[in-house]
Amino acid sequence: MSYKSQILSDKVPQHVAIIMDGNGRWAKQQGEVRIFGHTNGVDSVRSVITASGEIGVKYLTLYAFSTENWSRPKEEIDGLMNLLVQSITDELEEMNEKGVRLQTIGNIKNLPDSCQKALKEAIESTKDNKKLTLILALSYSSRWEITNAISKMAKNIEDNKLSSDEINEQLISSYLSTANFPDPELLIRTSGESRISNFLMWQLAYTELLFTDTLWPDFDKECYYKAIVDFQRRERRFGKTTEQLDDNEIN
Ligand code: IPE
Ligand code: IPE
Ligand code: MG
Repeated sequence: MSYKSQILSDKVPQHVAIIMDGNGRWAKQQGEVRIFGHTNGVDSVRSVITASGEIGVKYLTLYAFSTENWSRPKEEIDGLMNLLVQSITDELEEMNEKGVRLQTIGNIKNLPDSCQKALKEAIESTKDNKKLTLILALSYSSRWEITNAISKMAKNIEDNKLSSDEINEQLISSYLSTANFPDPELLIRTSGESRISNFLMWQLAYTELLFTDTLWPDFDKECYYKAIVDFQRRERRFGKTTEQLDDNEIN
């Protein structure tokens, strides 16, 4: 039985986040250079966007480039940035057809001008789409985001626009780059690494984590549906007991 047919439509996560890892190792397996892996990873991106739309996921966040990735060889960074511009340009029409709204999180002003321009245009062109919000994390790291949030809060306190009494979890969330999005219910990381790598550390507080050995360019729709089915079989307790959850279901 296909995994897609096992998905319960009333328990589809609203927001899925993915750490797309393993492009370099995939390329190496093929005897190719690293950028070949990144290029092939774009097919997997397309697959998860389409699959998300099909099953009703409303937000999909993809970790495409971390703050730490700036320390990679220049050649690889340039290749990734070109690939980003190319993919956004190529996919824009299809994003509009599929009802995909593009958003970004991260220190976008650090990206090359060509990337910033392509992103700006695509964000503007897709802004009224309603089916799926695709959030690309670019030059993103959680510590950067939290530092930024604290700095903005401190500035607002200095300027008397904010009082320290007002600081609560909701307010902190509203200062993060994800302010307009719900927290992810499911995080998938490919390539067999079991770490968060500075991704959404605040937002993942109660997210289900799923680590798979599949390398990102091999991650297809079935892999994604399998991850959703796995998610749906888990019991999310949020600190409560199983019995409490059962009582709620009955009442
Ligand atoms: C993930 O694949 C893509 C980015 C981080 C941009 P990697 O490039 O990290 O691939 P591996 O981990 O070296 O295999
Ligand atoms: C995490 O992958 C970042 C992205 C997928 C964009 P990395 O390959 O950079 O992570 P580490 O360095 O292995 O933790
Ligand atoms: Mg990696």
